Amino acid sequence: MSQEVIDEHYERIAERYSEYLSYSGDFVPALVTKMIDMLRLSEEDVFVDLGGGTGIYTAAILDQVKLRQPVVLVDFSSDMLDHVPDDLPVEKVHMDALTFSEQPRRYDKVLIKETVHHVDDRQALFQNLYERLEPGGALLLVHVPPDIDYPLFEAAKKRALGWHANPDELERLLGEAGFRTARDAVDWPHAVPKQRYFEMVASQYMSVLSSFSPEELAEGLREMEEAHAEAEVLEFTDHFDYVVGYKP
Ligand SMILES: C[S@@+](CC[C@H](N)C(=O)[O-])C[C@H]1O[C@@H](n2cnc3c(N)ncnc32)[C@H](O)[C@@H]1O
Repeated sequence: MSQEVIDEHYERIAERYSEYLSYSGDFVPALVTKMIDMLRLSEEDVFVDLGGGTGIYTAAILDQVKLRQPVVLVDFSSDMLDHVPDDLPVEKVHMDALTFSEQPRRYDKVLIKETVHHVDDRQALFQNLYERLEPGGALLLVHVPPDIDYPLFEAAKKRALGWHANPDELERLLGEAGFRTARDAVDWPHAVPKQRYFEMVASQYMSVLSSFSPEELAEGLREMEEAHAEAEVLEFTDHFDYVVGYKP
């Protein structure tokens, strides 16, 4: 999918993006605790949230670690950046991830959450970030796997297989860039009212859903309606892979 189509996707969902993620209690703080741990984030660090969107994870990180310097929040979509809360202590950078990685800046820790699948040349991205990280720095990738266990229609789950990044492949690329790598994961049980989840799917809350035509999406929703006819609440497990690279 072209960068233009991806930008249109985030332009469309920017306004409701933060709301989508608040559907399951302590979901965001729980993911963040593991991020902080794997990044070995400390108050002195210069921290970059690359593809940081509306700043949900930056805000949740700042709740747990009082960073002394503003977070560098980079995103390709001006619409997503427009929805970053005004009082969040960030430096907003409207730039694509690869271009940012080429800038002559230094930083200690970088988070890329659910964005790396939008970057084609990941090898160059990781190599550039490796060069620009301080010694002892870390780059953490957090994302859902290709094989998602969501109550979606079958064609969407099938397309996600080629849409989301493969963690083994990411770990290999980080290693080739010079990082020492480590892996972990978080499994989070969701319970979402069926109607709410169907609305999220109808509004194409995941970028893979934006690759379906309105007719295909309507057909997919009919399939979901049949598959979950008896359910009021949809229960499913969200799996997040954490792949970290440490710079010696
Ligand atoms: C699924 S959202 C994740 C946002 C945030 N990391 C989070 O988890 O809430 C993906 C984000 O990546 C941004 N994005 C897509 N392609 C990008 C690129 N090439 N460079 C930088 N950001 C990009 C989108 O605008 C969007 O904000």
